[in-house]
Amino acid sequence: MHFQWYPGHMTKAKRQMQEDIKLIDLIIELVDARIPFSSRNPDIDELGKNKARLILMNKADLADEKKTRIWSEYFKAKGYFVVCIDARSKNGMKAIQNEIMEACKEKIERDRRRGIKNRPVRAMVVGIPNVGKSTFINTYAGKACAKTGNKPGVTKGKQWIRLNKNVELLDTPGILWPKFEDQSVGLKLALIGSIKDEILNTDELSIELIKILLSDYPGALQGRYGAVKAEESEDTVAVNIEEGADAVKVLEKIAENRNCRTKGNELDYSKAAALVIDEFRGGKIGRFTIEMPAED
Ligand code: G4P
Repeated sequence: MHFQWYPGHMTKAKRQMQEDIKLIDLIIELVDARIPFSSRNPDIDELGKNKARLILMNKADLADEKKTRIWSEYFKAKGYFVVCIDARSKNGMKAIQNEIMEACKEKIERDRRRGIKNRPVRAMVVGIPNVGKSTFINTYAGKACAKTGNKPGVTKGKQWIRLNKNVELLDTPGILWPKFEDQSVGLKLALIGSIKDEILNTDELSIELIKILLSDYPGALQGRYGAVKAEESEDTVAVNIEEGADAVKVLEKIAENRNCRTKGNELDYSKAAALVIDEFRGGKIGRFTIEMPAED
């Protein structure tokens, strides 16, 4: 599902979220582990300032593990609870229950003092489009519902999914609007495939991607595209894709390596551009995190 945001959308989404937040104890905020800054909308900090927060760094399977740990510490230092997950293959999901209980410890304690026993924690999932909200809810609720004896939901005005005796989840996630008016944020969202390809120039996008990889992950492109099979022979010829190399030249090497050619047998840069972006998004070139926390 791809979204184009207009002021009307944002106002509506914000209003809906303000209403929903009143009903819950905990915000489960999904971010993309490859771009944990650009894939979040900090307005949620204001909207949910009195609620406990669990940040799920999703798609951790595609991100750089070392940098994921740095980001995780960064969010923890801000007072959030953090779990790194891969909602699609269900990795990391086990740790979530415990973190929810930890994040809501104060509320549970407050209830206990007031003599309220066993009132489940109510939570809602929020995040920008494509960050994996539906995948997460399906993975998480699917498993939990099976565990509690196939009771899919409890209806009380809003649809709540009873995950277990301690947690209920609002069944519709809150959609946050991406902040792509900031150029660098927009670029990163485009690179991971969150913004419609049709409104972007794939050739330019691939050049930006190549520049980022050459500087942050020298060797990665060489590793995947550095060996070119010589024509009419089984031999491979090494090409040199190195730090500081010219991005257009690198794209040319990629076109050679993958034999991206037009009908007239010319190198087809656009085909190579689409290929490199596709392979990047699919994790085929490697696992990358393309931004780090700002020093503050
Ligand atoms: P949303 O509700 O926040 O809009 O996101 P959604 O769950 O629809 O997920 C968006 C895309 O991200 C889906 O791919 C989904 O499979 C993928 N995804 C979700 N979680 C993870 C994860 O942890 N790791 C990886 N690698 N991918 C994840 P899609 O291309 O739209 O669909 P499909 O290819 O799965 O059919």
